[in-house]
Amino acid sequence: MRVVALAEPDDFDGWRDAARALAAEGVPADDVVWQVGDAPTDLFAGEANARATAGPPAAGAAGSVSRLFIDTARSAVLASDPERFALLYTALVRLRTQPKLMDDHADPLVRRLEGLAKTVRRDIHKMRAFVRFREAPEEDGETRYVAWFEPEHHIVRANAAFFVNRFASMRWSILTPAVSLHWDGQALSEGPGASKADAPEGDPIEAVWKTYYASIFNPARLKVGAMLKEMPRKYWKNMPETALVSELIAGARARELGMIETAQTAQAADTRDGIGGNAQAAWEALREEARGCTRCHLYKPATQTVFGEGPVGAPLMFVGEQPGDNEDLQGRPFIGPAGQMFDRALAEAGIPRADAYVTNAVKHFKFEPRGKRRIHAKPDAGEIDACRWWIDQERMLLRPKVTVALGATAARSLMGRVVTIGKERGRAITLPGSTETGGGGQAWITVHPSFLLRIPEPDRAAEEYARFVADLRLVKDALATS
Ligand code: URA
Repeated sequence: MRVVALAEPDDFDGWRDAARALAAEGVPADDVVWQVGDAPTDLFAGEANARATAGPPAAGAAGSVSRLFIDTARSAVLASDPERFALLYTALVRLRTQPKLMDDHADPLVRRLEGLAKTVRRDIHKMRAFVRFREAPEEDGETRYVAWFEPEHHIVRANAAFFVNRFASMRWSILTPAVSLHWDGQALSEGPGASKADAPEGDPIEAVWKTYYASIFNPARLKVGAMLKEMPRKYWKNMPETALVSELIAGARARELGMIETAQTAQAADTRDGIGGNAQAAWEALREEARGCTRCHLYKPATQTVFGEGPVGAPLMFVGEQPGDNEDLQGRPFIGPAGQMFDRALAEAGIPRADAYVTNAVKHFKFEPRGKRRIHAKPDAGEIDACRWWIDQERMLLRPKVTVALGATAARSLMGRVVTIGKERGRAITLPGSTETGGGGQAWITVHPSFLLRIPEPDRAAEEYARFVADLRLVKDALATS
């Protein structure tokens, strides 16, 4: 029997190195006992492996494994389940003879690992959403924000980068029973576990935090039942802004009814198109998947993925650049100042926004932190390319008759090349590719509403705004005749 002692309960690198070496030696899964420090993680390791393995003894070199397995393992390793290390090693051994094992979602071991990875990801999300900071004055007169949180899994270190990126310019501490994180504005340090009594008692937090936390009430995903599940009552007692909750629930209820109506319209459209009524469900699954997107680094400092919204049967799609500060906090596209400008122009052109699907080329907010402010930064070509996958999926599901690119980033994403707006606006263009791959269909290119907000001279601003509305009117006419 081999005993592997890992340094920490979330020691992915330690598990990976040991597992690779054992697999290269051909050690079967039920010959290994995994433990953290001196404590066995699974007293019944052999039994669990025997249950989970149908596979052969490991043989030969460890070989390379799929990205999917690595991603699943990185999350599953953080689970509090004491069998996790053994189960992952069992899967690694089986991958040697079944390289496509992770695609077999009916396999009990794969299902178990997927389940572990999912519950860990949910816990990571919960920590991001439900950590509640209170102000604690420091000796030098500065404020430290201190929060108490009780995770279900070993996710605290894995979540540290999110909080560092998100709250880079503030001092904060997150206390948990197993480990504490401290950020002084420059460096992150770890301390021992703490108790709830070590965190300050809760005076209501300042407005900036409330705004941030209100973002968890993402209207696109909140259902009251789901929220209660997502937010176990144990977290409620830590929330000084609980007063906001009933109001937010009430608002979300209304939006939920709106979504049901939208879903019904989409289902009618699905039946019409002969795609079996699955487009709405597929879109919801896609949006859910996008919540965990790590295709480029922009997910790290952003609060959340801002996915498209609107009827899945919409014949008209608008594509913007990327969410701004407000959109990032609230999880909805075009709701800040540029969104208000957009709404005004749409109304003037006679296009009801509720009839259109509105999304962005890039789904995470890219910004430069400046003190407490977050200043918009333009996405680069690599970020646009990384995010194109999502917009292609959205387009494959919706297959809009007409698509409008708002600004150069959207045009670049849709056309796959750099576009000069002045040259291309005011006429219909065919999108490259076929509808099966998110391409095809008619597109129009115009300016981004935030361009209009940046024009200092009132006369020129009015002129450009009128041109924008004129472009939208052309789109409306094109839609009527296409
Ligand atoms: N700008 C965009 O391009 N998209 C938004 O959602 C908001 C501002």
